[in-house]
Amino acid sequence: MNIFKNSAALQKWVLSKKRQGSKIALVPTMGYLHDGHLSLIKKAKTLKADEIIVSIFVNPTQFCPGEDFEKYPRDEKADLAKCRQAGATAVYIPSAKDVYEKDHSVYVDETRLSVGLCGARRPGHFRGVCTVVTKLFNISQADVAVFGRKDYQQAAIIKRMVRDMNFPVKIVVAPIVREKSGLAMSSRNTYLSEIEKENALEISRSLRLLKSKAIKFSHLTSRLKASGLKVDYIEAVNADTLEKVANPKKGDVVLIAAYSGKTRLIDNITL
Ligand code: PAF
Repeated sequence: MNIFKNSAALQKWVLSKKRQGSKIALVPTMGYLHDGHLSLIKKAKTLKADEIIVSIFVNPTQFCPGEDFEKYPRDEKADLAKCRQAGATAVYIPSAKDVYEKDHSVYVDETRLSVGLCGARRPGHFRGVCTVVTKLFNISQADVAVFGRKDYQQAAIIKRMVRDMNFPVKIVVAPIVREKSGLAMSSRNTYLSEIEKENALEISRSLRLLKSKAIKFSHLTSRLKASGLKVDYIEAVNADTLEKVANPKKGDVVLIAAYSGKTRLIDNITL
């Protein structure tokens, strides 16, 4: 497995691979890899790519003031071992200095799908995501890139960005990977105490009950509150446009963001 800390070196390597006809897959991550990330690498392997590049970069531009950029969990050694084991052929693990010039001044802004949901609560977040993902696409020259469905809005925005900006990359969205308990895997789960983790289970439980029609959409808020969670949002949206729907029906997506203690968790389900 090749390890690149430098964008120019990775780009040079990848261009030479492409001249030989190699197909390149990219799995963008912020590291602290768990089984959800590893499922993205496994997915990439099924796409007949010759090279699978995992990027590991805690991207400062997608964190808002007061968020957890500084304390976001990092474990380079474990991440590299996991990438190797999962079958990555290259890892791009740059410093912030390698990714952003001191006077970096160009950003990519999606202006429709990023208005609501997490975009409304985390101003500038998706601008940071679109900007870094654009850079990662250009650095890696990926033919295909795999994203996780847990970040449903992010995946929708990236698909839109690729469509609207004519990026020659195919976006594949892989299913949410859950712990046995149902909790959607997230690097941020590491912040949760036992009791906070227990409380957090209500998020996936409620979504599951909603899908099976055992409870109504209008019950979600009170169920989450009763489990000690602080609801950031609960919304039902059209799966493609992310426009809010008043009466959720089959095919719509229900998204939840809620705090368990100080940790903000997200999850979603298609009805
Ligand atoms: O989903 C993530 O981990 C990040 O938002 C991404 C796509 C790697 C961009 O920093």
